[in-house]
Amino acid sequence: MESFKINRNLAQLALLQRIELADKNLKKIRKIFGRYLFSKVFSKYFINIDEISVNYSKVMRDEFSTIKKFIINRKKFLSIGAGIGGLEVLILKFLTDAHVSFIEKNYVSEKIKYGWDNLNKEGYNYLSQLDFFLKSNEISEKKYSIFDFDKKDFPKNDFDIIISIYSLDYHYDFEIYSNYLKEVMKKDSILIFDTIRPKHFKNIFEHVEIIKEDSNTVHKSNRIACRIFK
Ligand SMILES: C[S@@+](CC[C@H](N)C(=O)[O-])C[C@H]1O[C@@H](n2cnc3c(N)ncnc32)[C@H](O)[C@@H]1O
Repeated sequence: MESFKINRNLAQLALLQRIELADKNLKKIRKIFGRYLFSKVFSKYFINIDEISVNYSKVMRDEFSTIKKFIINRKKFLSIGAGIGGLEVLILKFLTDAHVSFIEKNYVSEKIKYGWDNLNKEGYNYLSQLDFFLKSNEISEKKYSIFDFDKKDFPKNDFDIIISIYSLDYHYDFEIYSNYLKEVMKKDSILIFDTIRPKHFKNIFEHVEIIKEDSNTVHKSNRIACRIFK
């Protein structure tokens, strides 16, 4: 499969969203010069765009394989914190009659801080860039809608499947979305996300299945598929 089409702005965002795409030199630079210069300058100008495209495409194909069996015959997708949207491009090319609603942030923090973010202040995206990435990778605009998290005007429809890869309960508390998810999940909806506390979700959902365990990578978490709020 071909790699995604990206330009410098998209490569920078992909790198900020997926720090594992940084090579050793860039990681060193981040340590030496600090988060501000890294987020603003080095992540944009000290990168090899083609290499990031190849590696980002591979990472997204791997993510796709972890969710593939859950998405068959599903049409209405919600993606929370998709980043530039590589996984969603793969979904929309695989399921030609699917539609994806995106909820994302429309800013990049001055000094990106990775890890748990109690106040959910960190943002690593621009909605116009997400839109541009989808169009550049041949996704028709009929196939998606984009919503700004901070405008709180979320899509009200039911979803067959909700995906949040390294965003919900990985960077910020599940509670932020809990009431909203209760409204948009039906009996057979599936919610897939990454967390370090899979057991906690057995108190919240009738069914919780661990679909991926990450203990040796930078992510150190479990990917779970949940159904039916208790
Ligand atoms: C670590 S990145 C993961 C991006 C993508 N899912 C991936 O796997 O490459 C986390 C993403 O969550 C977004 N984000 C942060 N808070 C959010 C919120 N409350 N709602 C939706 N997205 C959010 C960030 O802007 C960022 O793009």
